[in-house]
Amino acid sequence: MFPLNRSRRLRTSEAIRSLVRETVITPNDFLVPLFVVEGKGVKEEIPSMPNYYRYSLDLLQQEVKELWKLGLKSVLLFVKVPENLKDNAGKEALNPNGLMQRAIKTVKNTVPDMLVMTDVALDPYSEYGHDGIIEKGVILNDETSEVLAEMSISHANAGADFVAPSDMMDGRIITIREALEDEGFYNTGIMSYSAKYASAFYGPFRDALDSAPVNMKNIPKDKKTYQMDPANRDEAIREVEMDIDEGADIVMVKPGLCYLDIVREIRNHVEVPVAVYQVSGEYAMLKAAAEKGWLDHDAVMIEQITAIKRAGAHIIASYFSKDVVKLIS
Ligand code: PBG
Repeated sequence: MFPLNRSRRLRTSEAIRSLVRETVITPNDFLVPLFVVEGKGVKEEIPSMPNYYRYSLDLLQQEVKELWKLGLKSVLLFVKVPENLKDNAGKEALNPNGLMQRAIKTVKNTVPDMLVMTDVALDPYSEYGHDGIIEKGVILNDETSEVLAEMSISHANAGADFVAPSDMMDGRIITIREALEDEGFYNTGIMSYSAKYASAFYGPFRDALDSAPVNMKNIPKDKKTYQMDPANRDEAIREVEMDIDEGADIVMVKPGLCYLDIVREIRNHVEVPVAVYQVSGEYAMLKAAAEKGWLDHDAVMIEQITAIKRAGAHIIASYFSKDVVKLIS
């Protein structure tokens, strides 16, 4: 007697393993998040995100040149807004000469073919650290969407290729799409954070931008009235379907690892490209464990990225983008 099927035959050497490998990571898979600050000559490490930095515009130029050389052709921009420019209306977000608008132009002038996506949400601009305008403790939905649409126009004017609304207001995709069409930005795309969960994994990101909800009376301590409940799955599909109907070109699931069941479900369900955001807390976890010598950083990193792609991601937004590409090239 012998086993009729011996799966191990396909595992006997690296040559056969690579021949039958179903998921291959390439530089084309990645979208690189970049944090931008005011100033000159600034490259500051984010304490809870070892080896990840905020750049002033001059040093951002070097960084995007390096990314391009590595074959990383898409960036997602976030700005750290000075405290004195924050309010409850997103006024600075619409400043044609604001940091985001200048950052877009800087990237485009430095590497014209780099795809530039921009974060569209009010939290970096909010004195309360929320993604929308607040009135009596409530995040106003439709009023916020209107500002996000204006913000999108402003980013498109500065040269953004895609806007990426990360706020989770209802109906903001159609509001943004209509505004873009009205202004003639037919080819400006929308990557919607469609299934964005109210996750505790965003902590280090909020450190990076100093954008955490403030501890004040009448200000919600968390984002659970707009971001999704981690317990829900059907709702994620509904969110994605609505965003596609409203005009989203790309839909996103966020965070990554804990939500790969959602990623596969959505990938099986829709025909538009699916993006996954491997968020700051996921990055921090691995860095911390590796620092202690408890995990093999590079091996775990590759395993995680492979898992995200295998789950169905067409696009992976990851703070590991550069590390991964250096490792595999
Ligand atoms: C906010 C925003 C967040 C992230 C991207 N956009 C944080 C939040 O919702 O509080 C998180 C990204 C990360 O953790 O890496 N609009």
